[in-house]
Amino acid sequence: MIDKQKFLPLTEYREYPTEEMQQRSEKFYEEMKRRRSVRQFSDREVPRKIIENCLRAAGTAPSGANMQPWHFVVVSDAKVKKEIRLAAEKEEREFYRNRATREWLDALAPLGTDENKPFLEIAPYLIVILVERYSFFPDGSKRKHYYALESVGIATGMLITALHHAGLAALTHTPSPMGFLNDILKRPANEKPFLNLVVGYPAEDVTVPKLRKKSLHEITSFI
Ligand SMILES: Cc1cc2nc3c(=O)[nH]c(=O)nc-3n(C[C@H](O)[C@H](O)[C@H](O)COP(=O)(O)O)c2cc1C
Repeated sequence: MIDKQKFLPLTEYREYPTEEMQQRSEKFYEEMKRRRSVRQFSDREVPRKIIENCLRAAGTAPSGANMQPWHFVVVSDAKVKKEIRLAAEKEEREFYRNRATREWLDALAPLGTDENKPFLEIAPYLIVILVERYSFFPDGSKRKHYYALESVGIATGMLITALHHAGLAALTHTPSPMGFLNDILKRPANEKPFLNLVVGYPAEDVTVPKLRKKSLHEITSFI
C-alpha cells in the first residue's frame, strides 16, 4: 500500500507540444555531437561556481534504491594535482610497458595516448569520482548499495554532459589500478575510485583524433 503522506505531486515535470519535443531533441543531439574528449588543456581558471552547478546536476542522477552511492573530490590544489600526476604516470608506465596486451595497445593507437599525462597538472580541475560500495547503518553495520556501479556511471555521464553544456572540456582518465587515489585524497576503504575527470578549457592549439561514431542504425534495434 502506498502511504500518501510520503508522496508528492510531480510538479516539476514539463510536457511540450510534439513539434517542440522534436526540436528540443534535435537541438540536444546537435549539442552533444560536439562533445569530444580533450587531452591538451589550457591552465585558464574556471569559476568554481560552474563546477558546483555541474556537480549538482550529476547529483540529481537516478540510483539503485536512491542510495546515491557517489562521491566527487574536486582537486584544484597544485600540489595534490602533481601528486596525482606522478602516481598516475607510474601506473601508466607499467601499463604501456608491461600490463597492456598487444590488442589493447592497438585499440589505443588511434588516440595517440602514452604514459605522459601533463594535463593532470595543467587543467584547473580534476574531479575524482568514487563509488561508495557500501555505507554504514547508525549501529555501525554495513549497508549494502544496490547497483552502485551502474548508478555512478549514470551520474558520471550526467556530469560530463553538464560540463559540456556549460562550455567546458573534459577527459575521462582511468589509470589502472587507481587505489593511489584513496591514499592521496584520504578517502575511506568503502569508496573505490571510478574515474578521474580532467576539466577545463581546451588548449588553443588542441587537436582530437579523427574518430567515427556508430550510426543510429548500428547501435539500435527497434522491435
Ligand atoms: C570509461 C572510460 C575510460 C577512459 N579512459 C581514458 C584514459 O585513461 N585515457 C584517455 O586518454 N582517454 C580515456 N577515455 C576517453 C576515450 O578514449 C574517448 O571517450 C573515446 O576515444 C571517444 O572519444 P570522444 O570522447 O572524443 O568521443 C576513456 C573513456 C571512458 C568512457
